[in-house]
Amino acid sequence: MSELAHGTLAGLAEIAGTGRDSRRGGYSRHLWQGADLELRAWFVERAERTGLLVETDRNGNLWAWWGEPGPDAVVTGSHLDSVPGGGAYDGPLGVVSALEAVARLKASGFTPSRPLAVLVFAEEEGSRFGIACLGSRLLTGGIDADRARALVDADGITLAEAARRAGLDPAHLGADRDALARIGLFLELHVEQGRGLVDLGRPVAVASSILAHGRWRLTVTGQGNHAGATPMPGRRDPVVAAARAIVAVQDEALNHPGARATVGRLEVVPGGTNVIASSVHAWLDARAHTDADTRALVTAIGAAVSEAVTVNGCSVAVTEESWTGTVTFDPDLVGRFRAALGGAAADGTDGTDGGAALVPALPTGAGHDAGVLAASVPSAMLFVRNPTGVSHSPEEFAEVADCVAGIDALETLLRSLL
Ligand code: GLV
Ligand code: MN
Ligand code: MN
Ligand code: MN
Repeated sequence: MSELAHGTLAGLAEIAGTGRDSRRGGYSRHLWQGADLELRAWFVERAERTGLLVETDRNGNLWAWWGEPGPDAVVTGSHLDSVPGGGAYDGPLGVVSALEAVARLKASGFTPSRPLAVLVFAEEEGSRFGIACLGSRLLTGGIDADRARALVDADGITLAEAARRAGLDPAHLGADRDALARIGLFLELHVEQGRGLVDLGRPVAVASSILAHGRWRLTVTGQGNHAGATPMPGRRDPVVAAARAIVAVQDEALNHPGARATVGRLEVVPGGTNVIASSVHAWLDARAHTDADTRALVTAIGAAVSEAVTVNGCSVAVTEESWTGTVTFDPDLVGRFRAALGGAAADGTDGTDGGAALVPALPTGAGHDAGVLAASVPSAMLFVRNPTGVSHSPEEFAEVADCVAGIDALETLLRSLL
């Protein structure tokens, strides 16, 4: 990232060394732990240097205000946390771009007619407490506060305790109507997490929709025992049963066109080389075009894994941990933004026109805080081309020129809104 060291994307260079994960590769930046705390401090310092007033809300989201806080503010931002071993752009690109766009507006002498805030959401990836978009769900009341307080991380620390250690009052976690009422419109710039823009040969898009998606915990239970003293016949080994269940997950997803189902995290209990496990937790991420398609997929997966684990004398319980229905970004807003960016939406097309427009409108399979906020306030997203098409991986990438095109687009939209 050395070519970023100066100029528009200096912010990305400044945080390039924070949270590097030498074991996994890429970055591991998890809520209120070392790297995340450093990034939060960096954001406060950067925003204050840009002349913004920073405050932390009841749920640990950071707001940097230009003008008096709310109401009817234009709010833009993203997140600074990452998946384990994630890329440099998912989240930080939106934060850095927002700060840069505001710095440009200020430098040009622009006077906004309504307040603006740069917003950094807490725990977008759900890597520490398991619930994606936790900060925006808490803010909007999309997760029950008692349930949230009781979430635990890998070390058994509750969210309530982690919040207390971070200087928040755990009793105040949860729906924050006052903070939400300040948002007139939310706009999130994000690196694209697929190949849409690469295939269209365009640097920037406006988002049109997000797949329905959720997370479920599959708990496979067997009989813990001694690895040497237990003959192979008659074992009830939940690791072998989980392997069958995971193949069944893949097969069901392949049976549902357009659906995606992934098991990317496993926990073997108790987890010893010479121990037949007693249980396995496998986390399922499932996504599809409509809420009904996704529900049908998960129902089919539930039946398939129940059957699969019986071969090894095990049972499985399926528990829903989070859910986000299909998000369709407001077509009016999408059209207006494409028109403002010189796209062809003024002709009434829906943007999925294969590249006729300068600024296409693209769907995505990735979840975002903008998707959670869309249920409460007008929301929109800008995507920046990712030439690798890879994300949630160190190979995620964006060319400097495309990032600059994204910031140009964001600045144009902010000017039109302010
Ligand atoms: C968040 O990045 C998600 O879509 O899982
Ligand atoms: Mn992500
Ligand atoms: Mn993201
Ligand atoms: Mn995301």
